[in-house]
Amino acid sequence: MALNLLIGQTLGFTGDPFQQPWQEVTEHRRDGAVLVEDGHIRAVGTRANLSVKYPQATVTDYGEDLIVPGFVDAHVHYPQTAIIASWGKRLIDWLNTYTFPEEMRLSDPNYAAEIAERYLDIALSHGTTTMASYCTTAPTSVNAYFEAAAQRGMRVVGGKTCMDRNAPEGLIDTTQRAYDESKALIDTWHCKGRAVYAITPRFSPTSTPEQLDALGALWAERPNCLMQTHLSEQTEEITWVRELFPTTRDYLDTYAQHGLLGARGVYGHAIHLEPCEIDQLAEVGASVIHCPTSNMFIGSGLFDLMGLAKAKVGLGLASDIGGGSNFSMLRTMAAAYEVAQLRGAAPHPAQLMWLASEGSAHALHLQGKVGHLGAGAEADLCVLNLKSTQAIEQRSHNANNFWEALFPTIMMGDDRAMRQVWVAGKPL
Ligand code: GUN
Ligand code: ZN
Repeated sequence: MALNLLIGQTLGFTGDPFQQPWQEVTEHRRDGAVLVEDGHIRAVGTRANLSVKYPQATVTDYGEDLIVPGFVDAHVHYPQTAIIASWGKRLIDWLNTYTFPEEMRLSDPNYAAEIAERYLDIALSHGTTTMASYCTTAPTSVNAYFEAAAQRGMRVVGGKTCMDRNAPEGLIDTTQRAYDESKALIDTWHCKGRAVYAITPRFSPTSTPEQLDALGALWAERPNCLMQTHLSEQTEEITWVRELFPTTRDYLDTYAQHGLLGARGVYGHAIHLEPCEIDQLAEVGASVIHCPTSNMFIGSGLFDLMGLAKAKVGLGLASDIGGGSNFSMLRTMAAAYEVAQLRGAAPHPAQLMWLASEGSAHALHLQGKVGHLGAGAEADLCVLNLKSTQAIEQRSHNANNFWEALFPTIMMGDDRAMRQVWVAGKPL
């Protein structure tokens, strides 16, 4: 089997920099090397050690560029690719005006395939090698997504979005159809190649209690699937949830009551949480996904990154395309930094990089497989040029240490910083 030795700077993590001092859990090597064989990382070490140990390996020397795991985007809507940057609405109006009409178009399998391919190619060009995407209510949109990902060799998470109320007639399903179609899609796609299925009720306002119940029952039947949904994104949405579910304790309870709360539950946004919701999320080991560009673009609010980390809630990071305003996880990290600053904390670059790789991977229960620079992980890699523009170069030129050299790329970088992306051990 062919051996590839990638040489450059490397950055990996041995633990969670939100729970331990970042200095103790980061591994940066200036003269690093990553050995890749058969789609997996076989070893991470120094150039000197690995090139002596594996003289037969084909060497790619990236000089001062930084080798990191491919980014993991833990919450996106690939069907919204073509309506990114749509002006002037808050969540519910934005869904009705832009999102639902566009999602209806993906009932056409040709259009679904076109958008799935377009989305995945844009994501890869930005260094995102794994994502968890909502599809539309149409099973064809799920097939299009998993097929396009398989063609590209990518590990992806996805699921049919389920909605049986409060959406246009042409887009909604029923309780029975949501259950039957989701189950058939799980049986077709879950664990096929690199595909992972997530049962996907869109959010409580677009599912009847009966549909939530049916999807909770399906999750109990297929417990190794993930379950993804939205939680407490905007205040108007939360008021609406209270009206629709007058007897439940809070928003999270609309899921808990129907079997939709668990360790493999992935809850997008989670901005306006009650203390008991935070406690319950931590207790069951569920994860919340920070979508900072979306939360600013749709005007949703300021996610409490440091507070939720302190409460030991699982954390991932996401673009939330097309509510989010950028495909780049670098831009997403920058937005996470800015939002945290508005709440009085400055996350360290190590914490931001961890969120976009290890954190998101943990949230999706793919830890050790993706988002990880270590032996045994799948070889999805991103090689970052830390001097990709004049503006970044002139700042990193004055850096006193590695983190100061990296931070300008986090704050100002985009797809131009991607020197090379590797998927399943192959360079694109
Ligand atoms: N809540 C329910 N659906 C959506 C969606 O498509 N995008 C965002 N940002 N929030 C949602
Ligand atoms: Zn979303």
